[in-house]
Amino acid sequence: MKKQIAIFASGNGSNAQAIIDACKQGVINATVVIIVTDNPNAFVIKRAAKENIDCKIFKPKVFTDKASYENEILKLLTALSIEWIVLAGYMRLIGTVLLTEYPKKIINIHPSLLPKYKGLNAIKQAIDNNDNELGVTIHYVDAGMDTGEIIDQEKITIEDLNLPMEEIEAMVHNVEHKIYVTTLQKLLN
Ligand code: GRF
Repeated sequence: MKKQIAIFASGNGSNAQAIIDACKQGVINATVVIIVTDNPNAFVIKRAAKENIDCKIFKPKVFTDKASYENEILKLLTALSIEWIVLAGYMRLIGTVLLTEYPKKIINIHPSLLPKYKGLNAIKQAIDNNDNELGVTIHYVDAGMDTGEIIDQEKITIEDLNLPMEEIEAMVHNVEHKIYVTTLQKLLN
């Protein structure tokens, strides 16, 4: 049976796209049933439309607190029988409601060799630190920021830290798209 997954994304959605493509090709044994976003301007919404995947926008500001925001999302996930939540550039911490309902079933990708450089702008944090060992980490999600149990990691050594930022980011994204697919294969197939 194919697993039913939801992707949460707040921005461009290039990782979401890599996962959608791999699911469509049968490389990952899952169906991307829904994309959830907190950002009405996220490019991932256009990707979802193009792929004919339902996309639902939940605006956190409309809710009194994180619990009611997540309860509304949970209603949708339950109705769709979602089994796994895959975060792909989702810019919020996951709260108790979803963590309780999806224990060890929420995963995230982060562009650093965790536990180094948690949080925002991880690639820039590494470069500003003159650290040429970049990387990508996939981890289970817990209540902290990029703190959950690590599932998979890949190191990316940058020979020249003076390369344009876009070039370095592109290298990291390339690795992200590959490692997210292979990790999801291992977890779901
Ligand atoms: C990626 O670098 C991911 O590691 C981080 O947010 C970025 C999302 O990129 N969590 P995209 O929206 O998938 O292109």
